[in-house]
Amino acid sequence: MCGIVGYIGNRNAIPILIDGLKRLEYRGYDSAGLAFFNDDKITLTKSKGQIKELERKISDTWRSKVGIAHTRWATHGEPSEVNAHPHTDCSDKIFVCHNGIIENYKALKEVLIRRGHKFKSETDTEVLAHLIEENLRYKPELAIAKSLKLIKGTYGIVVFFSDYPDRIIAARNSSPLVIGMGDNENFIVSDASAILGRTKNVVYMNDGEMAVLTKDNAKLFSYRGGSASSVNILKRAEKLDFNVQDIQKSGYPHFMLKEIFEQPESLTNSLRGRLIKKEGNVKLGGLENIKERLKSIDRLIITGCGTAYLAGSIGKLMIEELSGIPCEVGLASELRYLPNVDYRQNLAMVAISQSGETADTLAALRRFKEKNILTLGIVNVVGSTVARETDAGVYNHVGPEIGVASTKAFTSQVIILAILAIFLGRERGFLSAGKAKKIIVEIEKLPMLIKRVFGKKNKIKLIAKKYKNYNNFLYIGRKYNFPTALEGALKLKEVSYIHAEGCGAGEMKHGPIAMIDENFPIIAIAPEDSVYDKMASNMEEIKARRGKIIAITTEGNKKIKHIADDWLYIPKTL
Ligand code: M6R
Repeated sequence: MCGIVGYIGNRNAIPILIDGLKRLEYRGYDSAGLAFFNDDKITLTKSKGQIKELERKISDTWRSKVGIAHTRWATHGEPSEVNAHPHTDCSDKIFVCHNGIIENYKALKEVLIRRGHKFKSETDTEVLAHLIEENLRYKPELAIAKSLKLIKGTYGIVVFFSDYPDRIIAARNSSPLVIGMGDNENFIVSDASAILGRTKNVVYMNDGEMAVLTKDNAKLFSYRGGSASSVNILKRAEKLDFNVQDIQKSGYPHFMLKEIFEQPESLTNSLRGRLIKKEGNVKLGGLENIKERLKSIDRLIITGCGTAYLAGSIGKLMIEELSGIPCEVGLASELRYLPNVDYRQNLAMVAISQSGETADTLAALRRFKEKNILTLGIVNVVGSTVARETDAGVYNHVGPEIGVASTKAFTSQVIILAILAIFLGRERGFLSAGKAKKIIVEIEKLPMLIKRVFGKKNKIKLIAKKYKNYNNFLYIGRKYNFPTALEGALKLKEVSYIHAEGCGAGEMKHGPIAMIDENFPIIAIAPEDSVYDKMASNMEEIKARRGKIIAITTEGNKKIKHIADDWLYIPKTL
């Protein structure tokens, strides 16, 4: 995923830009570049590969008080120096960094080439620099607004003009941008981690807004059709709620491992102040204002992408079981195309997103908002777009998830959905205080139980080593552990590039079992719960086909030794 950093102020911009890019490295990238103003001209430096390659090209003697920088993850054109951002127009006077995708860039590029523009890269972004060049008879802000009118797609852009070195201009449509406001200096970044330790005062830009940053001022406009109306930026300022330590590896070899081991603490933070054990109830401050409306809903729809969607799939089962409200879960990338269904029922939707910025989740959320449906968010990043655009919601409070492969956010999303289920069940009189109390007691134990699982890390490593050379894996589970199986498969694919599938264990006999042989290990998520006997039958079927089984089951389950090749015990809980 791409990253943007811009700086204007009294300090040397170059180390600030490089440091900001390094803070965004965790998002993945394949090339990087920066442009800064000095001695009446803009210097542009780019490199393929890591930021340290870019640093090698930077002289210690270079000084600048304004500049923009970018890390690129190739989408249009291979990773290369020429395709790295910033991109420029024909006269090298306009410099553009862009996150997002310009869908109609080919058509625009053809027109621009016919008009004599010379393109240097294969990227969609370069079109923007040439479009702005076409409109340069207007002042910079208007030239950008007029150009953006022609763009279809998503963007967070920062633009820098050699003729106007006193300003950086940014605009947003579906790709996050955050303004950081300091003392006689301003920042523009795609992710607040890039400015941690530099300022805590931030403004999250909205879609359709343009920002003009000068050294001692930051202005925000809503631009529509080329005209602009100003927004009071000070009223929108928020305080960043995390610190530099939160984005450091603290001795772990990588962030994903650090975040896995943070889970006892992150779950404690998600639950802090929210469980009222004595009363068998929960307190969700973010839902107070809509409590009455929630009492009368007849149906819930949960949405999200990837891991967030899978957490939602577990949430659906908990909400139905504990509150009696019929609940559906849909992939945001599909729900965004919701037809004009006539919702007679009192419906509410829950959008789940760690970042709060996922384009499909936002599109689905907006589709429901158009229909005046009550919208709730379960979001980790405070002040993010999903948080701002939903009617009410619950924050995860797990700190930044730098690892990208979701771990602590997933468990937090599940636990928030569990307490949301209790909240709805209690508010509607469906769930008794006694039963809620029993669940709360078990929830409170989870951080301690997770620590117990960490005690098995050596065994987990041994199993990983034993199976590391297999090319295919299947994860199976039933009921609550069907989504868990899908999440396991997603994680294996994402971090080890091994083919993995998740399957409802009951579906095996309807086709997938045909794949099983001794080269196809199965991870069976089989705690001793209400569907354990059925899971045991599924494991027998797999064994009969000589499939290798790695079972995850409840401590004390001795029978597993007769079915599985390897097993990991997890503590018993509700
Ligand atoms: O930030 P979001 O929760 O909206 O992100 C949605 C997905 O992209 C995300 O959950 C993704 O599937 C995980 N990071 C995968 O580990």
